[in-house]
Amino acid sequence: MGLKSKDLLGLKQLSAEEIMEILDTAKMMKMVLTSGNKKTSHLQGKSVVTLFYENSTRTRLSFELASKYMGSASANITTSGSSVNKGESLLDTARTIDMMATDIIIMRHSQSGAPHYLAPRVKASIVNAGDGMNEHPTQALLDMFTLYEKYGHIDGLKVAICGDLYHSRVVRSNVIGLTKLGATVSVAGPRTMVPVGLDKMGCTVCKSVSEAVKDADAVMGLRVQLERQQKSLFPSVAEYSRFYSISEDVLKLAKPGAYLLHPGPCNHGVELPTCVYDCDQSVINEQVTNGVAVRMAVLYLLMARRNQNENN
Ligand code: CP
Repeated sequence: MGLKSKDLLGLKQLSAEEIMEILDTAKMMKMVLTSGNKKTSHLQGKSVVTLFYENSTRTRLSFELASKYMGSASANITTSGSSVNKGESLLDTARTIDMMATDIIIMRHSQSGAPHYLAPRVKASIVNAGDGMNEHPTQALLDMFTLYEKYGHIDGLKVAICGDLYHSRVVRSNVIGLTKLGATVSVAGPRTMVPVGLDKMGCTVCKSVSEAVKDADAVMGLRVQLERQQKSLFPSVAEYSRFYSISEDVLKLAKPGAYLLHPGPCNHGVELPTCVYDCDQSVINEQVTNGVAVRMAVLYLLMARRNQNENN
């Protein structure tokens, strides 16, 4: 067992067994995280750098905390304040970090495929923390971990994902991961926000949010990514909210006790009203905690693979 690749580029590259190993490792990491003493020595003497070309609160901070809890030296680079702002290329930046004997580089970039480009060009392990509109693997892993904790399995679950499907790397990673583990996924969003080929990824594209949510075990809202829209893909926020928001009435169409997820950050009143965000079925805050546990698991497994390779 263990991860086959030195890098974590997407759920596309992981087998169902590898995904399950990450989720099972995250279970143990959550015990550490929620115990009185969060400190472990799994990454002692190792170094982790986060390289973020896009804004982030949850992903960047949870990776940073995860690596610190596990005893590594960790550092951050963002575009502002680094030589990226002087025009240094992505490759030169990554090679510079690599030549400082860095073990793991966690990167977010607006270009789909940027981590895949760097991975064979550096010795460090590359972790994709979101690349353009392609994948956000650790977000989907924490979403799946949240459902795994609640239900004890992913196989056989029906998951509805609603909102801005076009710009969402979260929906792609979730569809790939959930279907690999045997879940059924239904998606819905404005017609202008359904990317070509999404139906070929193994999910059902529904005509309405109600159709997608009906009898679901879990409902996930997606953020409307206004920053990625060249021109508005829907007439108004009011209209979007009327037809595509996960309202209390929409949530009632899911199975009783179905869980509500959202990757965050949330546009309150657009993707869902605040009363739904805060309702008893919402696990949005638990997702944040689980994000740290899952990222600890990812760092642990990547480092275990690196150690194995060094010893062989
Ligand atoms: N869900 C997510 O990726 O959030 P951040 O942009 O805050 O990291």
